[in-house]
Amino acid sequence: MDINTAKKILDNGDLVAIPTETVYGLAANALSESAVNKIFLAKSRPLYNPLIVHISDLGDMYMIAKNIPDEAFKLAQNFWPGPLTIVLPKKDIVPDITTGDKDSVAIRMPKHPLTLALLDSLDYPLAAPSANKYKTISPTKPEHVRKSLGMEMPVLDGGNCVGRIESTIVGFKNETPIIYRHGLITAEEIADCLNQKTIDYNSDKIIMPGQEKRHYSPKTHLIYTAFPDKVFMDHSHCKIAFIQFSDIEVDTHLIDHHIHMTRENGLNGAAKMLYDTLHELDKMNFDLIVAEKVPQEGIGKAIHDKLLRAQNY
Ligand code: TXA
Ligand code: MG
Repeated sequence: MDINTAKKILDNGDLVAIPTETVYGLAANALSESAVNKIFLAKSRPLYNPLIVHISDLGDMYMIAKNIPDEAFKLAQNFWPGPLTIVLPKKDIVPDITTGDKDSVAIRMPKHPLTLALLDSLDYPLAAPSANKYKTISPTKPEHVRKSLGMEMPVLDGGNCVGRIESTIVGFKNETPIIYRHGLITAEEIADCLNQKTIDYNSDKIIMPGQEKRHYSPKTHLIYTAFPDKVFMDHSHCKIAFIQFSDIEVDTHLIDHHIHMTRENGLNGAAKMLYDTLHELDKMNFDLIVAEKVPQEGIGKAIHDKLLRAQNY
């Protein structure tokens, strides 16, 4: 499908899956209540879970958000287009359904030439969550989208996503940057850009959508653990796939499949491989996927968050 066809479908109030540098998104006119409603239906996503609004022009931020702190502008200038989502007070032009009834709107400018060109051709921004059924692994290729949402879903084919893990989500309390979701841009990079420390959003009090305990789950049973050897022993009757991040010696006759995530390109390489690896392992009929605990530094925080929530017992 080309950009013109995608535009026609969107102008008609329907859905198109779009490529971004992180994962594929399921897009609709962010300013149309009825179009956005179709996203929730297609994903089986609960209505309280707000969507990210995608723009291609910094000026659009001022169309949909207000009271924008200087810090937000600085982050936008520094990281857009790119995998950073900024949460800001919303203007009335954005319907409540797009933001899950919140007063704030999450905005990002994705870094993918096709989607930027598509956005440029439209008169409205695009609301787009990841293009998968609720609580399943995010799609990094067109085939993942079709497998999760059905063969009929129109996809603007932009090849494989390069980032393969979602954007970082940052908001502000007074002027302090709060990280709602760790992602490709690290907390350290944000702190460096703003010259001040970030705070992690505390999910104990309010459960933020996307911060729900179970998310990103493969169908195969997954255990995320600091003690993989013990889990292997406890499940000696199981067919096990092991996802390793450290360099510890592993007793390989206890497992059936072994993937070393950091050998090639460290934790950055691991972040890129994560969803593809989970998609592939899910097809291979293991009884159990064991993922080794990830050091929580830099991009490791995002990988840790995803695996913690991928546990599906
Ligand atoms: O990389 C990405 O961000 C991808 C691509 C498609 O852009 N999108 C994505 O969307 O990951 P989704 O729907 O899977 O995750 C969006 C998350 C929500 O679950 C929620 O945590 C957060 O964005 N969010 C949206 N609006 C928010 C708001 N007003 N305040 C706080 N968090 C918000
Ligand atoms: Mg998602």
